[in-house]
Amino acid sequence: MVKGKSIILGISGGIASYKGITLCSTLVQAGADVQVIMTNSASKFIEPLTFQTISRNPVYIDTFNETNPKVVSHIDAADKADLVIIAPATANILAKMTHGIADDMLSTTLLAVTCPIVIAPAMNVNMYAHPAVQQNMQTLLDRGVQFIDPNEGQLACGYVGKGRMAEPEQIFNYVQDMLASSMQNSQKLKGKKVLITAGGTRERIDPVRYIANDSSGKMGIALAEQARDQGADVTFIHGHMTEPCPTGVQSIFTSSSKEMYDAVNEHFSHTDILVMAAAVSDYRPINVEEQKIKKKSDQWDIALQKTEDILQHMGKRKTNQFIVGFAAETENGDVHAQDKLKRKHCDLIVLNDVTVPGAGFSSNTNIVKVFNEDGMIADLPMMSKKQVAAELMSIISDTLIDEGK
Ligand code: CTP
Repeated sequence: MVKGKSIILGISGGIASYKGITLCSTLVQAGADVQVIMTNSASKFIEPLTFQTISRNPVYIDTFNETNPKVVSHIDAADKADLVIIAPATANILAKMTHGIADDMLSTTLLAVTCPIVIAPAMNVNMYAHPAVQQNMQTLLDRGVQFIDPNEGQLACGYVGKGRMAEPEQIFNYVQDMLASSMQNSQKLKGKKVLITAGGTRERIDPVRYIANDSSGKMGIALAEQARDQGADVTFIHGHMTEPCPTGVQSIFTSSSKEMYDAVNEHFSHTDILVMAAAVSDYRPINVEEQKIKKKSDQWDIALQKTEDILQHMGKRKTNQFIVGFAAETENGDVHAQDKLKRKHCDLIVLNDVTVPGAGFSSNTNIVKVFNEDGMIADLPMMSKKQVAAELMSIISDTLIDEGK
């Protein structure tokens, strides 16, 4: 799997950096082009020449040691990389990554890469358990960085516990499996047109006021990125979000539920898969005032009317489309979700209980259950929204493959 891949091997300053030599050698022997980047501290443990000899590439340490005037080394390395492995990763490099600090070649390159990053932490057991380190790792996990947990055992500092870097063979096997599954998954949706909605709608009351909701758009963005990465042609119809749109997809902005309805309706006939992750307002003001409404009486009643139920309309219209809805519930979720599945003619419904910490709006994580017409088919633990999106897109593409679509 690693043959022909361009891999950045980041070595930060821990005693486990000696294990990086075996890892580097294994990767090179398996056919990878390995670019080693060491931190200054790492070069105190291991002589850079060792890595240079094994990798047959110059080793980078200093951002300003630019030997090739035609390129900027850290950007060039980042652009070429198919994968980054940091082994060992110290608490320091984890903290720098979390906060976007770029004060040496490794941390600067890590800000410029767009490929997957795999981290093998190694440190003292108490450092590993420290809330700052744990929180940093959680943040990185939420951003899609993958971790290979340290092993338990005798540590160089004399302690016995969790903190020993995973063995080079474990890291190599992890990377092989990861590349194999991403290769398998990568083209599962090739040729499919996927329409994803995200974010929240706004229903105008007057020029300065509106009815909105707390949707951040994060779940829909993660789904669009996954569909794109699985080879789909993605149309992303979004309302108001706190995050930027995903790249590599066709993004269409709609503000109100009516605008979103019109956009989805227009694209639906040439869609294979619709995923309605948007939080669409259920009601809108009957009258939208052209001028700012003046404060008058103590009480103000706004007359509302139902908006179009986009999912239900598309469910009724569907011919060959595969339709996935979301159900945000606060009580009796399993029952309400399955009722929505039937009522809105969905193929799948994704339930999230928005009262549970770690699920729902704005959070970087989610906890979901997935139902089809036969009942529950997945009950996922708390995961980053990126991981939830990967699981959901796999369920969708596997179901389509099973149905021969
Ligand atoms: N939805 C939609 N159009 C609406 C309201 C909701 O397309 N006007 C979609 C959502 O995008 C989601 C699904 O329907 O995929 C369920 O949304 P939810 O808010 O959970 O359910 P509602 O239909 O609004 O029902 P209720 O408010 O009774 O829970």
